[in-house]
Amino acid sequence: MASPGFSAPGGVAVVGSGLIGRSWAMLFASAGFRVKLFDIESRQVTDALVSLRKEMKMLELSGYLKGQLGAEEQLSLISGCSDLREAVEGALHVQECVPENLELKRKLFAQLDKIADDHVVLSSSSSCLLPSKLFAGLAHVKQCLVAHPVNPPYYVPLVELVPHPETAPATVDRTYALMRRVGQSPVRLLREVDGFALNRLQYAVIAEAWRLVEEGVVSPGDLDLVMSDGLGLRYAFIGPLETMHLNAEGMLSYCDRYSEGMKRVLKTFGPVPEFSGATAEKVHQNYWEHRAPTPGPSSDLPLPEEVSGCLLPLKTVLKTTG
Ligand code: NAI
Repeated sequence: MASPGFSAPGGVAVVGSGLIGRSWAMLFASAGFRVKLFDIESRQVTDALVSLRKEMKMLELSGYLKGQLGAEEQLSLISGCSDLREAVEGALHVQECVPENLELKRKLFAQLDKIADDHVVLSSSSSCLLPSKLFAGLAHVKQCLVAHPVNPPYYVPLVELVPHPETAPATVDRTYALMRRVGQSPVRLLREVDGFALNRLQYAVIAEAWRLVEEGVVSPGDLDLVMSDGLGLRYAFIGPLETMHLNAEGMLSYCDRYSEGMKRVLKTFGPVPEFSGATAEKVHQNYWEHRAPTPGPSSDLPLPEEVSGCLLPLKTVLKTTG
């Protein structure tokens, strides 16, 4: 097995050592990169190093550890850092993973802008903040982009690369190559759009699922089966466009045969749902019943945080979806 010193091709700084920062650290180390892990809370870094050790050892035992190096070798590539400048010094790539808050991220990128040399790539893990807002006014804007992973990044390979209008093509190319090198599956968005690609597709599906349940066409459980035992199986292997191509004698034939039917159905789609009220209660209740049959929850339980926290971006993107 190659030694870490031999295989390590350069340094990466991961800023923010929560859920996503930890996963990035594992991915970069799996490909032999030295990783400096920085967090505003030094306790977070300490905890991250402990949990990374546990997880990587477990992955090694079960045969799922990524990369050519053993867990100890990969762990020796990851170090905690209590100073942002020290973390970024000499890095070829900085992956920002602080909470999804525009002001917080803008403040951090302003700090990084002062520290950065003219070569390092400054990349944000943001799920839905637009690069034009994140990187506005930075001297190193050409070196900035969003590289949005899908949780959990160690197991889900997609990364959406979203440029600022002034991002240099070389920045996107370098990040694309880096993502491939760590085993991820990068896609390039040619320009920024609210929700990027993944969440626009996801929200379109959620919106129609919601309308079908709201209009009493199908129960929440059956709606989910339509995806998990139907469409989802297909889409786990091929995307919607390739599906169209394969469902006929090529794409042109598909459009010829099915476009009128598709347009007729699409014209019946309703407006952006409110994602509240009786339908929210009904769906919520449905899943509570499945998960916690005894005793039943009281009807005034709030929506789980992960659902309520997503409502605003969901509605914002749906309103921009043409
Ligand atoms: P988290 O809350 O688990 O971790 C954030 C970390 O950032 C914490 O350890 C916190 O102490 C640290 N932090 C806060 N301010 C800081 C600063 N100024 N400098 C350095 N560290 C600082 O958050 P999570 O879930 O890891 O999310 C990070 C980013 O990744 C967000 O932008 C999020 O939208 C994005 N993302 C999250 C996904 C998810 O499912 N959790 C999926 C894809 C992207």
